[in-house]
Amino acid sequence: MGKILVTGGTGFIGSHTCVELLENGYEIVIVDNLRNSKETAVSRIEKISGKNVIFCKVDICDYDALSDVFRQYDIDAVIHFAGLKAVGESVQIPVEYYRNNINGTLVLLRVMQENGCGRIVFSSSATVYGMNNKAPYTEDMPTSATNPYGYTKVMIEQILRDVCVADSGFSAVALRYFNPIGAHGSGLIGEDPNGIPNNLVPYIAQVAAGRLKQLSVYGDDYDTPDGTGVRDYIHVVDLAKGHVCAIDYAMKNKGFTAVNLGTGKGSSVLEVVAAYEKACGKPIAKRMAPRRAGDIATCYADASKAKEIFGWEAKLGIDEMCADSWNFTKLNPNGIV
Ligand code: NAD
Ligand code: WQD
Repeated sequence: MGKILVTGGTGFIGSHTCVELLENGYEIVIVDNLRNSKETAVSRIEKISGKNVIFCKVDICDYDALSDVFRQYDIDAVIHFAGLKAVGESVQIPVEYYRNNINGTLVLLRVMQENGCGRIVFSSSATVYGMNNKAPYTEDMPTSATNPYGYTKVMIEQILRDVCVADSGFSAVALRYFNPIGAHGSGLIGEDPNGIPNNLVPYIAQVAAGRLKQLSVYGDDYDTPDGTGVRDYIHVVDLAKGHVCAIDYAMKNKGFTAVNLGTGKGSSVLEVVAAYEKACGKPIAKRMAPRRAGDIATCYADASKAKEIFGWEAKLGIDEMCADSWNFTKLNPNGIV
């Protein structure tokens, strides 16, 4: 087994992936600048796994600090989560999104090359399918974006493709996540957004907890079975397990590949609300609201490539996702502190 550098490892998806890596015998080094997470996540990862974790508070844009990490530890592969991820904010402060996400990735790739590390698994997104493809999305569809956040994902995928062309020994897997939700069954780690959540399930969780008054359902006139938006929600623990498969794949294969991580099934906003009501045992107050700019009606994965090349498929359904989200919310009324 090898030593994996996890950038953004104290964040939502990163922390769950660290647990799965440790449970599969990998050693990990976490690099995070704590811009959107807390150091407490490190001790929680250690508590769940019963293993020690190396944590370096480093910004991936800091070439000298990142070079020191690579000099100090013998890194076999990188899982690259670190980045800013709020779509709306990316429209407000595009330069900061390009600086952090693109420049951070370029510094990371430079340091990897200088230290002879040629394997990376990158957090891409279903957002790269843009507005013009029709679900179910397959990895060979053309990619595009409608906001700066999405463009950072499209561009970083292209950078990784180009690196693999230039260096035939390099291995890059871009994982295109659909809608990750839920939390670890222990309730120790989960999603802990700053301020009012933008995403559906964190918002519902705060309504259930009494911290927000009611959910606005953005559009009930879409061309979907109940008129509300349909998405492919995936349990973050299933998603995390997909990263272990991707690392195993990158250890054995060269070149660039993009792989969807989704369940292949869509749920509507109203179906998610109903599942959450079942999980928390109370009604979720809601009102119908206009469509949100930039939203599409339906988005779900064709998940067959992950099954074929990784032997991975999602196991947990929407009921488990909502139950684990609620368990985390109840146990952490003020988030991860
Ligand atoms: P998150 O914000 O919880 O985690 C990202 C982590 O990266 C945070 O801990 C943050 O502090 C850190 N970070 C940001 N910039 C950094 C920098 N310059 N140097 C070091 N650390 C830095 O987000 P997440 O939901 O866990 O997402 C992880 C990755 O997956 C992101 O790249 C995101 O774009 C991508 N993704 C997320 C979703 C989703 O819905 N959550 C969907 C698709 C793709
Ligand atoms: C889901 C559904 C909304 C909030 C986003 C990013 C995407 C990816 C995942 C990173 C939609 C509806 C939402 C609310 C609502 N992230 N909704 N009321 O937009 O599918 O994807 O997160 O890569 O890039 O765009 O997720 O959770 O915001 O919305 O009715 O208060 O819930 O309209 O149909 P989305 P979401």
